[in-house]
Amino acid sequence: MSHGLFITFEGIDGAGKTTHLATLAERLRHQGREVTVTREPGGTPLAETLRECLLHTPMDTLTEALLMFAARRDHLRLVIEPALAAGQVVLCDRFTDATFAYQGHGRGFDLGVLQTLEGWVQTMDGGLRQPDLTLWFDVPPDIAASRLSRARAPDKFESESCAFFERVAAGYAQRAAQAPERFVRIDAHVPRDQVWHQVEAACRQRGWLS
Ligand code: TYD
Repeated sequence: MSHGLFITFEGIDGAGKTTHLATLAERLRHQGREVTVTREPGGTPLAETLRECLLHTPMDTLTEALLMFAARRDHLRLVIEPALAAGQVVLCDRFTDATFAYQGHGRGFDLGVLQTLEGWVQTMDGGLRQPDLTLWFDVPPDIAASRLSRARAPDKFESESCAFFERVAAGYAQRAAQAPERFVRIDAHVPRDQVWHQVEAACRQRGWLS
């Protein structure tokens, strides 16, 4: 394959996307692809500093949205775009769909403003950068919450109510409905190996995994 691939992993906290991201990276590398594994907010020194603030410091939603997009801009310029230009596969744990789902639907922030910021931040030389594929790990919020409560101390987002995560989940559903060619819904409410089979099938169907 001569050009890069940009694959994002999305879902509410506790959906279990991160282990599958690592497995996909391993499988792609095994097939000889160069893979960059990264995350948002984060992925560069500046964006990781912003992540610390975003996950632990209370702030108003406009500030939160602006910092998410500031981190994203740095991440795109320094990591994602160069990796794609070098023909690599970029696997990113969350991207802009998370901003629409969490800040937009979860916190009720203006979706039109987010769309404007998306256009500013993701416009690169070749046009508007969007993922080639978004794997959306869909799981009922109460199941995700019970998975999280068994894990480490919650951050600012993980401490939100079940009602918040219901809205976030609805936000992901809306984004998926708006871009059906980009999104694949993964039923994440089944045993882990069955979740992986869905991820594998989505990549095989596109000829990215043998
Ligand atoms: P997450 O990706 O779940 O990492 P970890 O598994 O290490 O907790 O944490 C990032 C949090 O940031 C998550 O709760 C969702 C939130 N977030 C937003 O609210 N908006 C965004 O645009 C992004 C990228 C993340």
